[in-house]
Amino acid sequence: MLVWQHYTERFLKMNRNYSIDIPQSLIKLLKTSKTVVAFTGAGISAESGLSTFRNPIDGLYSKVKVEDVVTPEGFERNPRFVWEFYESRREKVRQVEPNPGHVALAKMEKLLTEFYVITQNVDGLHQKAGSSKVIELHGNIFKNKCFLNNHYIESLDVINEIPPRCPICGSYIRPDIVWFGEFLDLENISLSETVTRDCDVFFSIGTSSVVYPAAGFIVLAKENGATLVEINPEETEKSYLADYIFREKSGAVLPRIVDELMK
Ligand code: OAD
Repeated sequence: MLVWQHYTERFLKMNRNYSIDIPQSLIKLLKTSKTVVAFTGAGISAESGLSTFRNPIDGLYSKVKVEDVVTPEGFERNPRFVWEFYESRREKVRQVEPNPGHVALAKMEKLLTEFYVITQNVDGLHQKAGSSKVIELHGNIFKNKCFLNNHYIESLDVINEIPPRCPICGSYIRPDIVWFGEFLDLENISLSETVTRDCDVFFSIGTSSVVYPAAGFIVLAKENGATLVEINPEETEKSYLADYIFREKSGAVLPRIVDELMK
């Protein structure tokens, strides 16, 4: 490659506003698809200011031990610590807004025939951006249930104790999110399976694709004939399955796809 070409490419890659090419074959496919699914992970919320989990520098798991805050055993050992950890995460999530990636997916729901978001995120930013068909595989950080009996707690008006206690059974209240070693909600799994099997195009966006059963939906989509589109600045465990790959931030790629869909 000529030296000037090399430096031009490097300059373009450094400059976030450079135009991202969206293949017209993908746009055509999206316009003729009956069902399209966007499967998202922490990376889609990174541009809103929420850290991902596995980034070695600022990822959540570089700061806390998984077994302390993402397991039922950790909660049993130190309920106050875990409750306060999630209170601080809630506070952080309250402070951020959906970014152009979330907004673009909400627009795609309006532009395409059937469009679902299956998310591993618990931040509620897809709904805040306007998406209405969102399956929250790992729960929602703003919802609560009790530790022993899964009684759902609608509101926590008066907190006399940390963590608060369930008004029905007296066990501790915890966030309604899925921790390691726990089962995912069966209705969510079943709906996700149905739309994944049915879809013509499956986007995998901002996920390292290492956590199961969630990551299994990427394989299921591919096995059932969907065209797989990966949007992630980094290679992932499932990149080898992808038909289209965008090694860019989702907040840059997704609005470009919407632009093309609207032409
Ligand atoms: P990870 O932290 O494992 O992966 C985040 C991915 O986002 C990485 O592949 C990054 O390269 C990518 N990424 C970063 N910035 C991006 C951007 N601007 N645009 C697009 N991609 C970007 O997070 P998840 O895959 O979501 O589960 O993790 C899956 C599950 O592991 C989480 O739901 C959580 C965690 O343990 C539970 O808590 C049960």
